[in-house]
Amino acid sequence: MERLDKVISNSGYGSRKDVKKLIKSGYVEVDGKKIKSSDIQVDVKINEIKINGEAINYRKFIYLLMNKPKGTVSATFDNYDKTVIDLLSEYHKSFEPFPVGRLDKDTVGLLILTNDGELNHKLISPKWHVDKVYYAEINRQVDEEDIYAFKEGIVLDDGYKCMPALLEVIKSDENGSSVKVTIQEGKFHQVKRMFLSRNKEVVYLKRISFGLINLDSSLKEGEYRELNEKEIELLK
Ligand code: URA
Repeated sequence: MERLDKVISNSGYGSRKDVKKLIKSGYVEVDGKKIKSSDIQVDVKINEIKINGEAINYRKFIYLLMNKPKGTVSATFDNYDKTVIDLLSEYHKSFEPFPVGRLDKDTVGLLILTNDGELNHKLISPKWHVDKVYYAEINRQVDEEDIYAFKEGIVLDDGYKCMPALLEVIKSDENGSSVKVTIQEGKFHQVKRMFLSRNKEVVYLKRISFGLINLDSSLKEGEYRELNEKEIELLK
């Protein structure tokens, strides 16, 4: 059971505030009866909800693909900083989505947002070995020893031994490097700390894929779109 105003809002009729007005104005019918109170509980599988005579098209879950910009935090609320939720439309906010895992404030790139708690749990658990691929720029030359150390499992500053990771060099010289890193975990600042353990610093970090989902090159930083049916299947 869910609140009537939430169900209607999740069906594309505006924010909860808009929907409350709509209900109050007498546009909403539940099982053929006009309802003027927003807080009644309905079951979308049983109750028939109509707006102005038309049955609503209700969805429970949403799945969003965002190109996270620098300077936003991957949280639903923050006292100081703009969050990734602040970038969503009122319609998408009404589903109360949250980010799947976290990217640092200065990290850009692929971030999935959903309100599907079960899927979120599966995707962030290292048990499921979901590959996360990052493009990174490093302040120094990256060599064979680094590649080997990543493969063997880097030991972080707190003593935690990482799962084997794939480090691929795109370009590297004495001025710095561009690399691709594939990890299956999501420890706090993981990629940055992996390089720090090699005395190297990440100066730019962008996530380019998450499981079988790739960052959509048509999305500018700060933009997002819904995942399509095929992508949702791939994610699951
Ligand atoms: N590793 C990091 O260090 N930062 C991120 O945002 C993601 C992975």
